[in-house]
Amino acid sequence: VIWFTGLSGSGKTTLATLLANRLAGLGFFCQVLDGDIIRKGISRNLGFSEDDRAENIRRVAEMARILLDNGIVVICAFISPTAHIRNMAQEIIGNPDYLEIFVNTPVRICEQRDPKGLYKKARAGEIPHFTGISSPFEIPVDPFLTVDNSTAPAETAIFQIMEKILPEITPREPGI
Ligand code: ADX
Repeated sequence: VIWFTGLSGSGKTTLATLLANRLAGLGFFCQVLDGDIIRKGISRNLGFSEDDRAENIRRVAEMARILLDNGIVVICAFISPTAHIRNMAQEIIGNPDYLEIFVNTPVRICEQRDPKGLYKKARAGEIPHFTGISSPFEIPVDPFLTVDNSTAPAETAIFQIMEKILPEITPREPGI
């Protein structure tokens, strides 16, 4: 399970989609689980309190584990803002199968991009508990990889990610 964490607008969805395409091209079966989609379906009864975010991530991690057990490379893109929440995901998925990638885009840049206009609304007080504005984002302390998706093109980050994850997800040859 490749787990992208980072602020809204940091580039998680873009990187998850590009990565899934690259891996599919190599013959891996992949599934992207993305916050914006999951929250319209499986987690549509949840909001953005700490408890609701934890429940959202719990559901996703359980799903990821099931997909993984069927040989699917699961690529998750969730803000997953706190160490507590990310640790829970890691525990459910199991430590060696959880590869955390921190998309290290500063809030200033996410706010400039503001692809969904949410930062503007959050600044205007229209969205409570907005991550990076009125709700915390704890920087991951020991991620598998940190990528910069603000000063370099997404392809550069994808190259780094591929290099680092391929040895982890390639099935071993029988007998080795
Ligand atoms: S998480 O905190 O539970 O991991 P998740 O990744 O599922 O969040 O959903 C984040 C998406 O929900 C954001 O990209 C944004 O589009 C939307 N959203 C709506 N309200 C909020 C909020 N208060 N904080 C963060 N994101 C929000």
